[in-house]
Amino acid sequence: MSGLRADGAAESAGAADVSGLRADGAAESAGAADVSGLRADGAAESAGAADVSGLRADGAAALEWAASYLERVSELPVLAQVAPGEIRARLPKTAPDEPEPFAAVLRDLDEVLLPGVTHWQHPRYFAYFATTASEPAILAEMLAAALNSVAILWRTAPASTELEGVVLDWVAELLGLPQGWHGHIEDSASTSTLAAIIAAREATGRDLVVCSDQAHSSVDKAARMLGMRLRKVPSDDQFRMDVAQLGDLSDAAVIVATVGTTAATAVDPVGAVAEVCAQADAWLHVDAAYAGAAMVCPEHRWAFDGVERADSVVVNAHKWMLTPNDCSLLWTRRPEDFRRAFSVIPEYLRTPDAEDALSLSEYGPALGRRNRALKLWAVLRCHGRFGLQAHIRGGVDLAAQFERWVADEPGWEVCAPRHFSLVCFRLEGPDERNRALLERVNASGEIFISHAVLGGRYVLRLAVGQMSTTEDDVRRAWEVLTREAAAL
Ligand SMILES: Cc1ncc(COP(=O)(O)O)c(C=O)c1O
Repeated sequence: MSGLRADGAAESAGAADVSGLRADGAAESAGAADVSGLRADGAAESAGAADVSGLRADGAAALEWAASYLERVSELPVLAQVAPGEIRARLPKTAPDEPEPFAAVLRDLDEVLLPGVTHWQHPRYFAYFATTASEPAILAEMLAAALNSVAILWRTAPASTELEGVVLDWVAELLGLPQGWHGHIEDSASTSTLAAIIAAREATGRDLVVCSDQAHSSVDKAARMLGMRLRKVPSDDQFRMDVAQLGDLSDAAVIVATVGTTAATAVDPVGAVAEVCAQADAWLHVDAAYAGAAMVCPEHRWAFDGVERADSVVVNAHKWMLTPNDCSLLWTRRPEDFRRAFSVIPEYLRTPDAEDALSLSEYGPALGRRNRALKLWAVLRCHGRFGLQAHIRGGVDLAAQFERWVADEPGWEVCAPRHFSLVCFRLEGPDERNRALLERVNASGEIFISHAVLGGRYVLRLAVGQMSTTEDDVRRAWEVLTREAAAL
């Protein structure tokens, strides 16, 4: 968050500096005070003016809650220390009959819900792929809700629809993707990949999905939901798709190549896969849900070699691009195939043809689409290319540091090449010891890490991705791991 601080203060080892969140939030509140300029009829004091005094007072309290939460989150246990059902048991069985004040909601957020929160905003959150909801995006989410644009059609939300196109163009340029591709936002990489596979099936008329044994389970899920066949190709000793084993592709609708696999962040040889796709007339979908964000740094662009030949690409802004869930970016160079797959226009939604093509509901499963572009726009503007690069490089450096500690410590091993900000490692010896270690360190509440199985072995994963994570946090993770390993 240091890039956002109004006072420009360097990152401190203590509580997060959220002064930017407070100052910007207050400015918004102040800026929203005069709504008369927005009135269509120009009437200053019409009887119809909304009474937003509650929004101002409650909004200030909510903003203060958010700021103080981010300040103290590092002191809370990272992993929620509750048993299944515990939170539900604390909540009333039915909604209240009488309206309650918003203050009661904030109170229960603290008293009832907070103990059941696993803190993704915690600097020692290292599980799965760590993410950051950065300040501009937090504020933009609130503004998007205030606007409540529902983009069922271009005309129901022209600004958010066109902004979505623009920010997707901006990110394409930042990541080195070809210009001119059609981009839109889905809720998740799972939906983006599902949509791409549907478009591929439409374009090819075939029913086989091909991916590596390291591809994300969203590919399995999509194939199952669509009743398509799935072929998993073995990966090599670095967990990359083994292109030589792709087999007969005459029935292949789509090959899904992964840039940054979930278990180990392996990078499939996209160029070679693109060549095979071209020969087989199959669609190439690239899943770069996590690692795609790293392409903002030229030194990581090797991982996107060949991606310019893809038919579709997904990158999750909500993974490593400082944007809160949900914000999955999907580009295609074949938008007409998406339209053929998804366009269903009942009479009540009919507009002139040229306008239909602008409606992003034409390119994916959802009709009513929320304004996710606003938060991404805020992130891109308030962090800039250099801020995004600094975030990626900071995470990569911390992961590299952690990797050195593991590699230098007898009795521990690094289990996969580290390309980005994920380290796969384990204690030498049986899987059972590593499983027990994972449970112990996560139960401590001091850190939260996750696991994977690589080459048949149980490995631990430490993923850096929280903007507030410092070297002290990573050192603490290593201390907790070595301490708990000694106690096994
Ligand atoms: C490579 C990859 N693809 C897809 C996904 C699914 O992402 P989402 O949760 O946005 O559906 C993940 C999640 O971690 C992932 O690592």
